This record gives sequence, C-alpha cells and structure tokens, in this order.
Amino acid sequence: MKLSVNLPTKTYELLIEKGALDHVGSWVRKLWQPQKIVIITDETVNDLYGKKVKNAIQDEGFNVSVVTIKPGETSKNLEEAQKLYRYLAEKEMTRKDGIVILGGGVVGDLGGFVASTYMRGLHFLQIPTTLLAQVDSSIGGKTAVNTSVAKNLVGTFAQPDGVLIDPNTLLTLEKRRVREGLAEVVKSAAIADTELWALLDTLKDEDDALSFSEEIIYACCQIKGQVVEEDEKDTGIRLILNYGHTIGHAIEQTCGYGVVTHGEAVAIGMSQITKNAEKIGTMPKGIYQQLVSMLQKFHLPTHLDDWEAESLYKALIHDKKTQGNNIRIILLEGLGKAKIETIQIEDMKQYLKK
Ligand SMILES: NC(=O)c1ccc[n+]([C@@H]2O[C@H](COP(=O)([O-])OP(=O)(O)OC[C@H]3O[C@@H](n4cnc5c(N)ncnc54)[C@H](O)[C@@H]3O)[C@@H](O)[C@H]2O)c1
Ligand SMILES: [Zn+2]
Repeated sequence: MKLSVNLPTKTYELLIEKGALDHVGSWVRKLWQPQKIVIITDETVNDLYGKKVKNAIQDEGFNVSVVTIKPGETSKNLEEAQKLYRYLAEKEMTRKDGIVILGGGVVGDLGGFVASTYMRGLHFLQIPTTLLAQVDSSIGGKTAVNTSVAKNLVGTFAQPDGVLIDPNTLLTLEKRRVREGLAEVVKSAAIADTELWALLDTLKDEDDALSFSEEIIYACCQIKGQVVEEDEKDTGIRLILNYGHTIGHAIEQTCGYGVVTHGEAVAIGMSQITKNAEKIGTMPKGIYQQLVSMLQKFHLPTHLDDWEAESLYKALIHDKKTQGNNIRIILLEGLGKAKIETIQIEDMKQYLKK
C-alpha cells in the first residue's frame, strides 16, 4: 500500500507493506542515486535488522556505513547528536549524501534532528520499526532532542524523502510496546476515523491487531498525513493528535518517564478526559464506555490507582500547550470526530477529577 504526503515544499511517499524490508535496496535506489549513506539505528534494532538493511542497500551500489546509539529515551539528547555529527564528519558526509534512519521514535527523532541540522540538512529516509513510530512519529517531519529543561525542547521540522514501513518488524517487538502503539491507533480512530474504529471493534486483542497491521497502519498514516498536510507547522488542526495527551504527559511526568509508557499514559489520559467531559456535558454520553472496552481488550490501562489530581494539575500547567490563562484541550464531538476547545486552566481541575 502506498500513500503520499503532499506539502507545499515537498511530496514524499510512504510504502506500507508486510515484507517491505526485503526490498529496501531497490526502494532506496528508486529514490536516490548511488552515493554515501550512513544508517543511524540503535543497538537492538541493529542486531535484528541492521545487517539486512545495510547489505541490501550496498548491493544497489551505495557506500554504506552504520552508526548505533544505545536504545531508549536517554539517548535522545544533544550529546548523542554531537557524537553523530562527529561520525558523519569522519565519514566525510556532504549534502550530496544521505541518511537512513532505522528504528523506533527515539532513533527517528534524534536521527531526523541530526540529518536536518548537519551541514544545514542532508536528505534522509525513515524506516520505523515500532508501532508507535509506524503510526505516528515517522510521519509529519517533527524531529527533536530532549534537554535537561524539557522533553523535545530542541528540534526542527524536516520531512524525509520517503518512509518505508514493514509491519513484520512488529513481530519482534515486545508486547508492551505493541500495546502502547495501539493506544495511538485507538486515538487516531477516535479523533478521525469511524471505519478504523469499526475495524478495531472486530478485533479480539493485540495479537489479532497484528494480523491486520497493514490496514491499521495505513489508516493511521492517512489520518496523520492529512492533518500534517493541513497544518505542517503545528499551529492549528494538528493539535487534535493530542487527544489524551495533555493529561497523558502530566501522568508521564508525575509517575516518572518509563514507569508508565507513553502509550499507557495516553490511554489513561483519553479515558480520564472523556469520563469527565461526559459528566461536565462537553462530550456526548456513551463514548467513555466504548473507549474503555476498546483499550481494555488491548490490555491498556484506563485509570491509575493512586491518582493525584493536584500534582497532575501542577505538571499540566507547565505543559507547553497552555497559553496565558487558557489551555486548549481535545474532546470528541462523537466517535471519529475531534474538536479543539479552549478552556481556562482552572477548569482543567474538573477534567482531572478521579
Ligand atoms: N516526531 C514525532 O512526531 C513524535 C511523535 C510521537 C512520539 N515521538 C517520540 O518517539 C519516541 C518514542 O518512540 P518509540 O516508542 O518507538 O521508542 P524507541 O525508539 O525507544 O523504541 C522502543 C524500544 O523498542 C526497540 N525496538 C525498536 N524496534 C524494534 C523491533 N522491531 N523489534 C524489537 N525491538 C525494537 C528499541 O530498541 C527500543 O528499545 C519518544 O522519544 C517520543 O518523543 C515523536
Ligand atoms: Zn503520543
């Protein structure tokens, strides 16, 4: 399956296909002339897929080398970026050369950041290998690194030349990671796609979801692609992708990053805001129940046992989506249709009630 993302400055294609990694060499060759390529990946993904990708691209006449980072969020920082710049310089990479980014969202964000800033920007390709990266982070062109001040504080908008998604790579991914990706999938359906919701409704559990991975990923990429086409620089409609995220980010921050995964926090965030919105009357009744059953069958959490509204509120007012005394939150008009509401920060307390 193919999809294209059409932006004023660039159009590129997403290829979504089980087994696509078997054709990675010819895919790169169609996009680029033979040149130098550096593959940026993490150690885990390198052990699983590094050699295959390197050899396939090399066989097409490219001069390929691989650089790895340690897996995990702690690598997404400026020190690692610096090491990568050094590596690229040692390899005498120029703007005629290209970067292939292979891995999850961490490698995607860091690699994209490095590719888009080294010598003011090299061409790059994304090969996302986690469900979260395949349905979310690899599409849309946001790159970032974390600093001691805040997560994703420093970054760029930079679009790749292409994205190759092989859903078979999810077969090696930890179950918990598959589930957290499904939280973003449920989010996408809830904000924009009743057909995807209906498909998810027919599934039994996360294993079942993997047998429909191609269709599911395609639907999510289509939603994300459309939103990004409308609002590449994230000044308006792109905010709807944040359904469940305002509370989710606060949960991640107060529980400690990694204790609750991003997807789990989003699942709780969506449940919480929906439950209270139905009580307040800002969302039609009945969605909460459907949302909770959907998340539960994918073994995602929908509440926290030790819910501390006060500390969540504090974390949340530091969130970058606050504007003066107001905050923009995402609610649903109905399943499949999101709306953006601006409320007073104080009123957020209502949405944080246990
Ligand atoms: N740029 C954006 O628009 C955007 C959107 C959402 C999230 N993000 C970012 O994405 C990051 C999270 O991404 P993530 O969840 O993919 O994390 P990740 O990149 O850390 O990957 C999770 C783990 O899975 C391993 N892994 C990756 N692919 C694998 C595979 N196929 N088989 C086995 N193991 C595999 C990795 O080595 C890692 O240990 C965060 O930093 C977040 O800020 C960015
Ligand atoms: Zn998210």
